[in-house]
Amino acid sequence: MKIAIGSDHAGFELKETIKTFLKEKGIEVIDFGTYSEERVDYPDYAIPLAESVANGEEDFGILICGTGIGMSIAANKVKGIRASLCSDVYSAHSAREHNNANVLCLGGRVLGKELAKEIVDKWLSSSFLGGRHKRRVDKIMNYEK
Ligand code: RB5
Repeated sequence: MKIAIGSDHAGFELKETIKTFLKEKGIEVIDFGTYSEERVDYPDYAIPLAESVANGEEDFGILICGTGIGMSIAANKVKGIRASLCSDVYSAHSAREHNNANVLCLGGRVLGKELAKEIVDKWLSSSFLGGRHKRRVDKIMNYEK
């Protein structure tokens, strides 16, 4: 599995934690930055990462800003992206099972590190259930066309 990860300054610390967590699991991680806590603009990281995931370069993406909100708004502008802001484990597996989400957004100023790791773990180990959920997701993707 190949995961793209990106953050702004407010998500940098959690990005580094999640990056290590993923690498320890043997997952290939492509880091889209940012690379320090110097102030930056989240769309500059969300959009390139989302385009890369939409083009099939990585299986999934993880985007982290202060709240996760800016990253999710920006990533969802990219065709083919279903970005899900998750702050709990139930939402994490539902985002994959029901929404076939391909980008996970996290709030670096909202979540503790251990909860964030559990969310990532659950998100990655859950799969799309299809069926009635596919019908609903297809309606969104058809609108996008
Ligand atoms: C940066 O201060 C903050 O606005 C950003 O990280 C994010 O939370 C935006 O949604």
